[in-house]
Amino acid sequence: MSADTGRLAGKVVVISGLAGGQGREAALLFSREGARIVGCDLNAEGVHETEALVRAQGGEIECQAPVDLGDPAAADAWIAFAAEAFGGFDVLYNNAGAPRFGPIDQMSTEDWDFTIRNELDLVFYCTRAAWPHLVARGGGAIVNVGSVAGITGLKRMPQVAHAATKAAVIGLTRQLAAEGADHGIRANSLSPGLIESPATADLLAEGPGSPLVDLIGKTAMARTGRVEEMVQVALFLASDESSYVTGANIVADGGMTVII
Ligand SMILES: NC(=O)c1ccc[n+]([C@@H]2O[C@H](COP(=O)([O-])OP(=O)(O)OC[C@H]3O[C@@H](n4cnc5c(N)ncnc54)[C@H](O)[C@@H]3O)[C@@H](O)[C@H]2O)c1
Repeated sequence: MSADTGRLAGKVVVISGLAGGQGREAALLFSREGARIVGCDLNAEGVHETEALVRAQGGEIECQAPVDLGDPAAADAWIAFAAEAFGGFDVLYNNAGAPRFGPIDQMSTEDWDFTIRNELDLVFYCTRAAWPHLVARGGGAIVNVGSVAGITGLKRMPQVAHAATKAAVIGLTRQLAAEGADHGIRANSLSPGLIESPATADLLAEGPGSPLVDLIGKTAMARTGRVEEMVQVALFLASDESSYVTGANIVADGGMTVII
């Protein structure tokens, strides 16, 4: 599909955390669908690789890196850069996130705070900064990334902070839908199940016995998801095809949370 007829033709999409994984895949797919991309990540090397890949397929992309979105001033500066890059933007895709795991009685305050900062605070900071730009644009779409961790408990994977942040992102998204409707802003979340990405590579590589590998057997489709499958859902939520969808949380988990 050419950029002239793509599903995001004419749109500018701002994606956090595009050094790899779902963020990079989204940058590549969205660019093929006609969007111009603005991105950032903590990982500068990965960002430069993503920029090169997008440009190699004929796309336009402008990034800042390294950017630590857990710092509100840095988030503000990146969103200001995003608004300048192509003269405004239509979509904010809050993809970046970094959790720390541990059971409740062993979870340090430091690890708890790290997870809240890097999975929840950064969504708030970026959205707060982006909001006036979307309002000035006459509306737009916000795509947040939740998780099955935000909707169900897991026996074998201790993740109190991650569960709290992702449930919060899903709740925040509903409230953004409520506050955004009068401005033409839609807000939805995508909640992945177990996806093969840099975030899960080490635990999946442990093989049988890894809590994540166990989860595959508890998934209706009995396999992990691919980043391409996640960003297809995000594409729908970012595009005008979802024009009557707001406040939704689309679970893309191969049927993990629908079976006992
Ligand atoms: N992989 C899975 O199984 C899975 C499941 C559910 C939800 N998710 C969510 O999907 C999203 C994408 O994750 P992924 O699987 O592509 O993993 P990933 O680790 O490859 O991507 C996350 C990116 O966010 C960046 N990042 C983290 N903290 C940041 C900060 N403070 N400032 C700027 N950038 C920061 C990281 O450097 C990384 O490049 C995340 O929100 C994650 O929680 C992933």
